[in-house]
Amino acid sequence: MQIITEPCQMQAIAEKLRLNRQLIGVVMTMGALHEGHLSLVKLARQSSGTVILTIFVNPSQFGANEDLHQYPRPFEQDVALAKAAGVDYLFAPEARNIYPENYQTTLECGALGKRLEGERRPGHFNGVATIVTKLFHITKPHRAIFGEKDAQQLAIIRQIVKDLDLDITVVAAPIVREESGLAVSSRNIYLSSQERSAATILYQGICHAEKSIASKKRDLLAIAAEIEQMIASTPGCRPDYVTFVDEERFELTERAEEGKEYRLLLAAYCGAVRLIDNGKIRAS
Ligand code: PAF
Repeated sequence: MQIITEPCQMQAIAEKLRLNRQLIGVVMTMGALHEGHLSLVKLARQSSGTVILTIFVNPSQFGANEDLHQYPRPFEQDVALAKAAGVDYLFAPEARNIYPENYQTTLECGALGKRLEGERRPGHFNGVATIVTKLFHITKPHRAIFGEKDAQQLAIIRQIVKDLDLDITVVAAPIVREESGLAVSSRNIYLSSQERSAATILYQGICHAEKSIASKKRDLLAIAAEIEQMIASTPGCRPDYVTFVDEERFELTERAEEGKEYRLLLAAYCGAVRLIDNGKIRAS
């Protein structure tokens, strides 16, 4: 595995790989690699000749009161994990090479980037959109693998690819869950053992929605309210939002129609840790 830090060197390598007809798969991360990231690398490995993993803690997607400087950066451990997972190139640039002095351009997401997570974290998705697009230009992938765990981010990246006519296939990787149902996340390390078990209420909420819809309940607002209540009555937990969106346009939806797919999105605090989770549900 080769470690690259200079954007122009990464670009030159990617260009050469393309000339040699190598299928490039990219996995973008902010490091602190866990099982979820490694499942993305595995998917990339299965479908691409060359796998590029990027590690970059992107300042432009952190709000003023968010944890940019506390964000974990266990680089040596990440290198070992990436190597073992079969990554070919690890691209880990310095912030000053991605956003040099006098950097001015930012991508502006539309309505999709302003609701739900975008409303809670103003400007967050503009930062994500900007870095993801820059990393697309640097790594020149044919395929890009993103986790369904960040469902709104995934929807925004699909929208960017469509709106900007990028010739890249976006592959969605399923959420990796612990045995308890808790979705694997970089934030789980901040949970106490009590909070960790309380946090499984998010997954229980998804199971509740699946059962309700399978039993022909169609009022998504009512189901979401029941799940909010489940979270609110779990000691140490507080719901932020619970809502359904349609899987096609990611718009808030109140009633399920037979044959359509919906995504239940949940955000909640367990102690001081804000967690998100989601599940895709078909109304059959
Ligand atoms: O999901 C993440 O880790 C980040 O938002 C991403 C896509 C690597 C952009 O910084």
